[in-house]
Parts: sequence; C-alpha cells; structure tokens
Amino acid sequence: MTATVAQQKYEIKDINLAPGGRQRIEWAGREMPVLRQIRDRFAQEKPFEGLRLVACCHVTTETAHLAIALKAGGADAVLIASNPLSTQDDVAASLVADHGIPVYAIKGEDAETYNRHVQIALDHRPNIIIDDGSDVVATLIQERQDQLADIIGTTEETTTGIVRLRAMFKDGVLTFPAMNVNDADTKHFFDNRYGTGQSTLDGIIRATNLLLAGKTVVVAGYGWCGKGTALRARGLGANVIVTEIDPVRSIEAVMDGFRVMPMTEAAAHGDLFITVTGNKHVIRREHFENMKDGAIVCNSGHFDIEIDLKSLESMATEVKEVRNFTQQYCLSNGKSVIVLGEGRLINLAAAEGHPSAVMDMSFANQALACEYLVKNKATLEPGLHSIPTEVDQEIARLKLVAMGINIDTLTDEQVEYMNSWTSGT
Ligand code: ADE
Repeated sequence: MTATVAQQKYEIKDINLAPGGRQRIEWAGREMPVLRQIRDRFAQEKPFEGLRLVACCHVTTETAHLAIALKAGGADAVLIASNPLSTQDDVAASLVADHGIPVYAIKGEDAETYNRHVQIALDHRPNIIIDDGSDVVATLIQERQDQLADIIGTTEETTTGIVRLRAMFKDGVLTFPAMNVNDADTKHFFDNRYGTGQSTLDGIIRATNLLLAGKTVVVAGYGWCGKGTALRARGLGANVIVTEIDPVRSIEAVMDGFRVMPMTEAAAHGDLFITVTGNKHVIRREHFENMKDGAIVCNSGHFDIEIDLKSLESMATEVKEVRNFTQQYCLSNGKSVIVLGEGRLINLAAAEGHPSAVMDMSFANQALACEYLVKNKATLEPGLHSIPTEVDQEIARLKLVAMGINIDTLTDEQVEYMNSWTSGT
C-alpha cells in the first residue's frame, strides 16, 4: 500500500517495524567507519545539494548507511529494492520514519510491484542513479528517453550490472557516464569474495541447518564470488567441486586445491549446488535428472536465472514448502530436488547479505563515485569509468586505520629504485 508520512510517499511492509530497524542499523554502523567519515564530510560539504538521486539496492542495514550518507550530502534521495526477496522490512520502515527517506520496497514483492517501484523511482526524475544489476538504467534507456537530459551519470554495484552496461555501450545506447564500482579493488576483492563467501553459506545454513562437514558442495563459477564461496565451504569441512567455462579460472581452481569437472559430471556427486556464474541455466534438466535424491540447489548470483526452475517444475509431480525458503520438488523418477530461496540470491533471501565490514568499503566506493560524477560532470565521457586509483587507495587506507593496522612506506631509496631501470643483475 502506498502511504504518506508528513507528505512523504513510501511503500513498505509496516512503518511500525521502525524501532527494530533503527536498532539494527545502529549495530551495522559499528562496522562501517569509512562510510561514517564520508558521511560526516558530506554533511559539511553538501556535494549533492539540489540533486535528485535514485538508489536501487538491496534494502539492508548497510544500504541504510549509504542512503543516510547521501542524504547528509544534500541529495533528494529515493530508495527502491534491487531484488524482490532481499528487502529487510524493518530497515525500510526506519529509513522512512527516522530518516525521512522515501523507500519503495517490500520483502517478497511480486514482479509487477518490483517493476512499478522502478517506474516510481524514475518518476523522481533522477540526476544520479545508483544501480545494483542495472534494472533502473535499462528501464530509463528503454522507456524514458525524455529523461536522459537530466542524468549526470550512474554508478553500478555488481558484476551482472557491469556486463549489462558494457552491452548497452556496445549497442550505442549508454549516452552518459557510468562508474564501475564493482571493479574497484576495495569492492570486489572483499565484497564479492569474502562477503559472498560468508553470507552465501550463512543463508544456506539459516535455511536448512545443514552440516557442511563431509558434504560434497558443487560451486558453479570461479569468479570472485565463486572463489569466496568455495573457500568458505571448504573451511566448513565440505569437499568442494568447482565447475567453470573459463580455462584460466579452471586451472586456478585446481591449483587452489579443488576438483574441477563439467556440471554433467558434478551433478551426480553433489549434496549441495551453489551457482555464482552470472549466466543463465547453469543447472538444467540434464543435471537435475542425474542428481542424488535430496540434492539441494541454490543461487548466489545476481538474477534468479542460473537454475532452470521452469524445467524443474515440468519434471515435478509435487512442490512442497518444507521450511522457510526451502521447497522440495518431488520428481517423477522418484527422487526429489530441494530449491532454496526460489533460486534468488540465497545470501540476501535467507540471511542478511554481506556483513557490514565489507559493505563499508563497497558503499564508500558508491558514495565517492557519486561525488566524482558530480565533480567531473563537465568532462566525463559517456560509457564505463573505473573508480580512480587514488579513491580506491584512500578507502583502503581509511579502512586500515579503522582496523588499527599500520603498514610500511617506501624509503626514498626504494622510491628511486622503483623509478629507475639502470641497475639490474
Ligand atoms: N549486496 C550483498 N550484500 C549486501 C548488503 N548487506 N547490503 C546491500 N547490498 C548487498
């Protein structure tokens, strides 16, 4: 239901959930010192004064801190969900009630509601779009060409969104700058690897209470998310198999100590399957057919397309909800396959997403990328832009200081050596 508090529109589950959300947001803030410093500076300098901003993110305690920082910087910000199952309803309520930020997000919203929220966000006529998966930018380009003149630029959070932006640029339709937050070192080395690794296992365990020790876990994809997931599954005692299509990553996985094989082979071995490829139908009919009875499948890639659920449905005689976020598909061959979180991001559907300590760096990148867009709007060309190295390094420096860790600096002699070529063997 769309409601109004003091003229402010919002669409959330229940405004009365705000006190619980406020408490959890405060808790997350303890682990987000870098974003806190940026927020304090934004509050002084107001880099977004007079600008309209849309953030399409997972509505979590960590995103709350990003939204609060942007608002402190003067942004007229609206927040919508980047996934139908990832919203934390208490956080959405607190953002509305305690921070005056309009939020359109309800956990479990259907596709029609999700798309309507994207339209509401675009009705805000944003100058800046923070996207996670590129749904707002794709809709803007396809349906709101008249609003392109308002756009300063976008920032993109995730690998899937970057892939889409590259395709848009190739097709000549990305006519404004897009900051590639995902590929910043202080983002993907930590968020994609350690964030996805820990939170994916967390989501699986919360949904199933499964003992990982001794289980065979098949991780599909050995990008940064796959690396983190495989590492953490092994840490819990699982025997990990990796499936890949990239030969270099496959060697990496082998030398990291994992078995590597095609999914057709892995299908018969796995007790638990986790997809993190960013591609579609990575697990499909031919794989379901060969799985053990009771095999569990889930996804931690951005979209719910990695597991071919339509095929699984067509093979099923019955689908039963056996626990929260846990559906058992009984197949005509007498076996069953368990699907977690409807094939959506299991770390956000059944758990709370990446821990605050990594989101601190990811969202520091987001906040500084927005500022960079504003400061450089006169000169930035359309297309994808890397986060400047100085920004990446500064985030790492701030994080180290907050962690109480000192590191070495180069001596003058070392600086000179690193800049010379004359001395060799
Ligand atoms: N993506 C993954 N984890 C997240 C979190 N905790 N908050 C926002 N976006 C996320």
